[in-house]
Amino acid sequence: SAVVAPNMSSCHLLQHFPSGQEPYDCCAPPADYEPRLFRPVGGSPLRVRRPAHAADDAYAAKLARAYTLMKALPPEDPRSFSQQANIHCAYCNNVYRQMNSTQPFQVHNTWLFFPFHRWYIYFHERILARLLGDDLDFALPFWNYDHPDGASIPWLFSISSSAAHPVLSVGALRDSTHEFPATVALDFGVDTDLRPRPVQLQENDNTMYRALVRDARERAAFFGWPFRRGDSPMEGFGFGTVEWQPHNTIHSWVGNKSAIGWKHMGALFASGLDPVFYSHHAEIDRFWELWKALPDHEDFDEEDYKNAEFLFYNEDGELVRVRAGDASNTTLLGYVYEEVETPWMGAVP
Ligand code: C2O
Repeated sequence: SAVVAPNMSSCHLLQHFPSGQEPYDCCAPPADYEPRLFRPVGGSPLRVRRPAHAADDAYAAKLARAYTLMKALPPEDPRSFSQQANIHCAYCNNVYRQMNSTQPFQVHNTWLFFPFHRWYIYFHERILARLLGDDLDFALPFWNYDHPDGASIPWLFSISSSAAHPVLSVGALRDSTHEFPATVALDFGVDTDLRPRPVQLQENDNTMYRALVRDARERAAFFGWPFRRGDSPMEGFGFGTVEWQPHNTIHSWVGNKSAIGWKHMGALFASGLDPVFYSHHAEIDRFWELWKALPDHEDFDEEDYKNAEFLFYNEDGELVRVRAGDASNTTLLGYVYEEVETPWMGAVP
């Protein structure tokens, strides 16, 4: 059967990240009511997520204001920035158990990867919009790293770009050699830093083609392996093509591996502390749409997929339950992606 919402009262401190650190508390504030099921119903107008590199100064200032407001909320407010980041730790570091099971609730390396992160940034975006008083129009940007024009940390998130806003960066938690305008390596590895830009851009096209086309013809290859109630989390296998590359590689390419306390993009428990995380995941979310637009590609239809549940605090600070199956259609969630060129689609390696 499907994994139902995690058992929040099972939440415990995170112990297992680099030894010698204090245990980390990323449990969400408890609610004293049964969360209702939230089902998206659509509505107009559709909000448009646009490429981050093409953002203008006015948009950058608006995004910076939204994060300033989010960081100013009291830390115990589930909509505060630190609590938003903790969601990732809670669902990604085995801190919750599944309801009615002793097994941890883990969304990575499984078919829950896409729907969980879609819901996660959906509520994150709705909270930012509410803080701005702009429910109708505000949308997250996506880091368009599959296109040569977007193949660096987006300027508005980069400390090294003079027009950027410090609240959108994390300084020493980033790998400084990868700051704007360094070319992103979607297949990041030991030798990628040595490649000239044109070579890396070609490799990026190849990586994209493999992840969305060549190696992703089978549904389970793209989404990752099934994860049902009582299953134990998979480590090092079970991930879909995109989750492996460019998703995991972007995390490690951005993060400063020697940051004190390890709170950088490359460490799952803390990656939500870097605002660029949410634009990274908007791009991943967009890849799901691009994959589905290819012939004969559809989401899982199995009940165990569709009925898997997650818990999130919404823009009103109310805890709600949502289903993986209800994440299928972005227009029901009220947003679409601006259409941009995907040169890698024709880049048969
Ligand atoms: Cu939950 Cu980018 O990972």
